[in-house]
Amino acid sequence: MCGIVGYIGGQNAAPILLEGLTRLEYRGYDSAGIAVLGAKNAQVHRVVGRVRNLAAALPKRLTGKVGIGHTRWATHGPASEANAHPHTSEDGRICVVHNGIIDNADALRAQLADAGVTLASETDTEVLAHLIARSGADTLEDAVVEAVSRITGTYAIAVTDTAHPDRLVIARNGSPLIIGVGEREMFVASDLAALVRHTSQVAHLDDGEFATVFATGYRTFTVDESDTTKPATEIDIAAEDLDLGGYPHYMAKEIQEQPESVERIIRGRLDDRFGVARLDGLNLTPRELRGFSRVKILGCGSAYYAGQVGATMIEELARIPADAEAASEFRYRNPIIEADTLYIAVSQSGETIDTAFAVEEIKRKGGRVVGLVNVVGSTIARACDGGVYLHAGPEIAVASTKALTNMAIGFALIALALGRVRDLSNADGQRIIDALRAMPGQIKSILDEGPRIAEHAKEFATANSLFFVGRVRGYPVAREGAQKFKEISYRHAEAYQTSELKHGPLALIDAALPTVAIVPADELTDRNLAAVQQIKARGGAVLAVTHEDVDFGELDVPRIVVPKTEPELDPILLTIPLQLLAYHAALSLGYDIDKPRNLAKSVTVE
Ligand code: G6P
Repeated sequence: MCGIVGYIGGQNAAPILLEGLTRLEYRGYDSAGIAVLGAKNAQVHRVVGRVRNLAAALPKRLTGKVGIGHTRWATHGPASEANAHPHTSEDGRICVVHNGIIDNADALRAQLADAGVTLASETDTEVLAHLIARSGADTLEDAVVEAVSRITGTYAIAVTDTAHPDRLVIARNGSPLIIGVGEREMFVASDLAALVRHTSQVAHLDDGEFATVFATGYRTFTVDESDTTKPATEIDIAAEDLDLGGYPHYMAKEIQEQPESVERIIRGRLDDRFGVARLDGLNLTPRELRGFSRVKILGCGSAYYAGQVGATMIEELARIPADAEAASEFRYRNPIIEADTLYIAVSQSGETIDTAFAVEEIKRKGGRVVGLVNVVGSTIARACDGGVYLHAGPEIAVASTKALTNMAIGFALIALALGRVRDLSNADGQRIIDALRAMPGQIKSILDEGPRIAEHAKEFATANSLFFVGRVRGYPVAREGAQKFKEISYRHAEAYQTSELKHGPLALIDAALPTVAIVPADELTDRNLAAVQQIKARGGAVLAVTHEDVDFGELDVPRIVVPKTEPELDPILLTIPLQLLAYHAALSLGYDIDKPRNLAKSVTVE
């Protein structure tokens, strides 16, 4: 969703801002703009559409060494040039870019209109530009503090003032904002991706924090203007991690990276002597781990499905009741928070607002919450009491793949930690550890099947509607498979428990509605095969994602065979072909795989 960049230093700002905005494109947006401070005034350029349209629309000579830029995802008012950021005060002195939502914007717009201000857009953001410009405060910093004190909602903002061309003033509440420290130049961004080409030294603002950013340094402070000392820290993302590296799409790259990204999450965390996982970041003693009698997992979208995989693993390995819930629902139902429940927030970006609010709700009520998060230093990672970083590396494609695989493995590690302070034996712990170690090689062998899976995908892409079915461990696999398929190929794909087919959806089965069936070699194989038979008997096509040992007998069913691992971990490998299936379906349909319509990589507004 919306992205912010800012620059102040010795170079021309425009190319740096454009490059930064390009790096944020993956988040999803519908319009873009920049403001560059010239000798006397601010030059603002905005367009509907892509950053490359903005670049094409800029005048040849756009000079100025201070500027801000934005990619907008429409919330208040449609995608139009007038609604794109930056927004300016009536006299053009103040320019503002904003991520988040101002809840009381309507009331503030009405007040400003009554005071004679002509509003130039339909956005909530514009009120900030007017409030700052109309403040009688002595300094820009005071004016920004005063303006944000009048708004409610979430924001990350960056402000320029032609009267103070030596600085950017920025503020954060509920939406990420990072300062990048260069050599006599400074950068501002809502996402590390926009900074890594310029610097590896960054400082994250906290909620309620402000900063003045000069070319040579920065000062962070609170609403009452007391300094907060925020030293920059080194980040571990290399610029190459964000390139396509020869792949046609980020999704293809990220699928192929899985053998290495799985190596990264398990590295140094498997303890063979005690058959356990070492997870120091959880900040939980063995005694505390023993004290939990329930586990509740919260996430959104695919992370929620990964949470369902995790809940089953935890129940099986640790024998503690565990379940996953959509964080977006949880926070709205006045949830009961129990002291002996371990809450786990799961998120690739660490910025999904629904998950972040769920964490807040748990903490407000005194619950213990740990994070399973990919982006280091992200909002959710910092809000949790501890956690396990996924180390999947930067994930750019909207459709999550390698981060999800690592989420499932992260849950296996947590299940080991919880299980080994209970009844899980050392031998059983070791069985899981050995299986985790074998996983990168097994994933590689599934990826080698890519061309065959592509053939099936082409066929399935022609259907308007599909079922994905699985049961117990296989059900979240089916849900994730359907999610991925619909996200990027725009085909209706619905997941069902295989056991529930006969209670309704079977009525829909015919030659036009194919089914992807998850049929692992486990205690439910026969039941799954019986369901496949029922689908076939009604003329439905079936593609089975299955194991070598499963005997399909007379059933003529095309199969994608994945290597067998320990039963508790089967869902991890069964999901991989479904990533390839969705990818190749979207590819054959010619869609924009990395940036599916209407979706954003991280949903930072409600
Ligand atoms: C968005 C994305 C989904 C993602 C979900 C959770 O809806 O489009 O692909 O699964 O957010 O994101 P997170 O960053 O919290 O894992």
